[in-house]
Amino acid sequence: MMTLCLGAGALANCPSGCSCNDDTLVVVCEESRLDVLPIALNPSIQRLIIRNNKIKTIDSSMQFYADLQHLDLSQNHLVSIPNRSFAYQRKLQELHLNRNKISAVSNATFQGLTALTVLNLRRNFLEELGPGVFATLPRLEELNIGQNRISRLDPRAFAGLSALRILYIDDNQLNAVPTTSFALLGSLAELHVGLNAFSSLSDDAFAGLNRLSVLDLNGAGLSNISEHAFRGLPGLRSLNLFGNRLDTVPTHQLAVLTRLEELYIGQNDFTVLEKNSFNGLKNLKFLDVTGALQLERIEKGAFDDNVNLETVGFANNKKLTAIEDGTFVGLPKLKHVTLRDNAIVTLGETVFVGKELKQVDLSDNPLVCDCRLLWLQELLSEKSNFSTAQCAAPDHLKDRPLRTLAADELGCVLHDSRQQTIICIALAVAGAALTVLCIVLYKYRKNMREKLKDYKLNKRAIRKDLEYQKTFSTEEDYIVRGIHPGQYPAPPAPPHAPGLRPIPVTEL
Ligand SMILES: *[C@@H]1O[C@H](CO)[C@@H](O)[C@H](O)[C@H]1NC(C)=O
Ligand SMILES: *[C@@H]1O[C@H](CO)[C@@H](O)[C@H](O)[C@H]1NC(C)=O
Ligand SMILES: *[C@@H]1O[C@H](CO)[C@@H](O)[C@H](O)[C@H]1NC(C)=O
Ligand SMILES: *[C@@H]1O[C@H](CO)[C@@H](O)[C@H](O)[C@H]1NC(C)=O
Repeated sequence: MMTLCLGAGALANCPSGCSCNDDTLVVVCEESRLDVLPIALNPSIQRLIIRNNKIKTIDSSMQFYADLQHLDLSQNHLVSIPNRSFAYQRKLQELHLNRNKISAVSNATFQGLTALTVLNLRRNFLEELGPGVFATLPRLEELNIGQNRISRLDPRAFAGLSALRILYIDDNQLNAVPTTSFALLGSLAELHVGLNAFSSLSDDAFAGLNRLSVLDLNGAGLSNISEHAFRGLPGLRSLNLFGNRLDTVPTHQLAVLTRLEELYIGQNDFTVLEKNSFNGLKNLKFLDVTGALQLERIEKGAFDDNVNLETVGFANNKKLTAIEDGTFVGLPKLKHVTLRDNAIVTLGETVFVGKELKQVDLSDNPLVCDCRLLWLQELLSEKSNFSTAQCAAPDHLKDRPLRTLAADELGCVLHDSRQQTIICIALAVAGAALTVLCIVLYKYRKNMREKLKDYKLNKRAIRKDLEYQKTFSTEEDYIVRGIHPGQYPAPPAPPHAPGLRPIPVTEL
């Protein structure tokens, strides 16, 4: 075994600047200024890495390395790849040709690469892809043709890629979603198609991609998304709409994505997140709204339908001042909230109420540290890592961490907000009772007056009776009238109003 290796090593020639390992069968030539492929390497090598050199073309020496599994020719000067350059690489699994100057590929370029699973052509000068250019790659799972100049894509450009799971075609010059080209990719799970100039998405833009799980439309120039643009994506879990020109949240369009777990929608032009902005997205766990420079307000109920939210990020939204009370209430799984670098001046206690909530990042906001933030100060002193919050105003508290401030520094009269609450409640209850009493008194004032009057008249009547008692009355009279004679003390000789007719008690 040893002699065999030594033999191979002795035969093989390792160019200067390369490292050749005959045990692992790996050759690495990084920044070695090679301008042609080395011809006399160990023919059994499995990994050949010639990254960042000056190779201009792939010549016939490639045929000697038929055991290659991994070939990296990234960052070279390749302008074209001759037809059938890789005809002998039946075992090659990964081919990295990114960061070269390749301007064209044909259906003969990749002939022979029947085991290839990864092809990287990122950052080249491709302008168009003809029919079946990858049709000789039946095992291909990942294709990266991002950062090229592709503006023309044949409807059959992706023919034969039935195993493809990941496609990067971002940062090209497509001006419409190539719906028919994509429709051949029935196994595709991830599609990165941002940084093209789409301006709008039409209905069924991604028809046929029914296994799609990740769709990246970051920076795709979208100002308009038609009603049924996302139809036919039943399994979509992650959608990136960051950096477009949407002036409202596409609530209806998104609502079909019932499996969506992750949504990036920052750096768009909407000014408000209205109630139920993300209606129907019941599985949403992660929401990111970063750099939405027009966003001013988040309304209560914006996340009403998103009961599975765990992480919410609002950062670098320079106009975001208002987060309505109760906005994050009713989200039992919410753990992390980032509100970094917005224009938030204050925050109500009821913006979030949740036991699960572990972290709120409030750094870089122009917080005014006054009594309105006492609740947060208390929370911060209980859980030291709950939040980072520094005061921006008033002047004497500038740059002080909110956590370190005492209630009186925040200008609170009472030290304990709970105590304050209890006193407030007590005062409110007392006030309410007093009010009720007054209303009752007022409402029944006539009644009362009459009762008082009756009482006086009664007394008079009784006196009268008592006066008559000596002459006509018997005890029975009193009983009939419902008043026991002993009930009232016998008054002394009454000053009798002349002419006052005594009213019988029964008349009252
Ligand atoms: C490759 O493309 C050429 C035209 O450029 C065409 O004539 C030929 O049939 C294609 N070969 C295959 C295998 O599709
Ligand atoms: C390479 O193959 C393509 C398609 O098969 C063909 O159109 C082209 O002429 C070939 N290029 C050369 C240099 O033979
Ligand atoms: C959006 O696109 C549809 C057609 O796809 C069009 O009818 C509508 O006017 C467009 N709206 C805006 C605001 O551009
Ligand atoms: C906060 O601190 C506690 C212990 O004080 C720790 O258990 C917890 O993991 C920390 N949370 C974060 C988000 O750092």
